[in-house]
Amino acid sequence: MEDLKQKLKQQEKLASLGLLSAGIAHEIQNPLNFVINFSKMSSKLLGDLTDIVEDNEDKMSDDDREEIDDIVADLKENMAKIVEHGERAISIIQGILLISRGKENEFLPTDVCRLVKEYVWLSYHAMRANNKSFNIAIHENYQEGVPQIMVIPQDLSRAVLNLMNNACYAVWKKSQIAPAGYQPEVSVSVAVINNPQPPTPNTQPPTPNPQLVITLSDNGVGMTDEVKQRLFENFFTTKPVGQGTGLGMSITRDIVENKHGGTLAFESTEGEGATFTITIPVKK
Ligand SMILES: Nc1ncnc2c1ncn2[C@@H]1O[C@H](COP(=O)(O)OP(=O)(O)OP(=O)(O)O)[C@@H](O)[C@H]1O
Ligand SMILES: [Mg+2]
Repeated sequence: MEDLKQKLKQQEKLASLGLLSAGIAHEIQNPLNFVINFSKMSSKLLGDLTDIVEDNEDKMSDDDREEIDDIVADLKENMAKIVEHGERAISIIQGILLISRGKENEFLPTDVCRLVKEYVWLSYHAMRANNKSFNIAIHENYQEGVPQIMVIPQDLSRAVLNLMNNACYAVWKKSQIAPAGYQPEVSVSVAVINNPQPPTPNTQPPTPNPQLVITLSDNGVGMTDEVKQRLFENFFTTKPVGQGTGLGMSITRDIVENKHGGTLAFESTEGEGATFTITIPVKK
């Protein structure tokens, strides 16, 4: 009972996460700008300091002079790194803002390739932040000329994030047990395929029926029959306590099937990997 309460609490937290993320992204942008601007200003001040030192060269020993030059060079390098990484963080945040601008449940014309790319890499960077030594190869295949598609960007991005987090976890887990030489890989693709509805006596000729297809494929641990059967169950997880709530897949299926009228399919071979396919009818 206590356990269930705990889990429900977590579910509420998850639900508000989507809304929060836009707000948080926005709030973080301000202090980040301060960090970047003060670093740039400090670099300039270091330039001024160097000028003063040069003017007073005759008053100090060669050793002191050399030491000051070394310190100033190090400081400048550090400032440049702060600016570089700060700007990278800003670009990630802008990606989140762009995508989560929509209100909850709001269908918006969306660049789905961009959305998928953004969240795939967000998940990757989050994983790397926890585990610097771990790396995976990400293969991306975005069909050219995919038009803007009506989806709920806030929800679709959460679905992609869930699938990518699972894929990252699966390849990480396999890397712990696989023989040396194992290369963790995740493949992502986005395409619109035309899947004409078969002609019926009433609809001649066949009507075009474009479908958005997003696939995420990993060569991780794969799933046993039990996991396959229970995959979409609320709170079903094989992750250690504190690492998984077991809600990711049920939320993802709800987003794809109930909110977008699509389908979420998967196939997996135990020990070899898993592939998830989101198919969503393209609305006019
Ligand atoms: N790509 C995958 N490869 C192997 N197993 C997977 C994969 N995706 C999901 N699973 C299995 O399905 C279970 C349920 O996944 P789900 O995303 O619902 O929950 P979770 O990842 O455990 O927790 P969270 O709520 O944090 O997402 C996982 O614990 C894992 O055992
Ligand atoms: Mg998950």
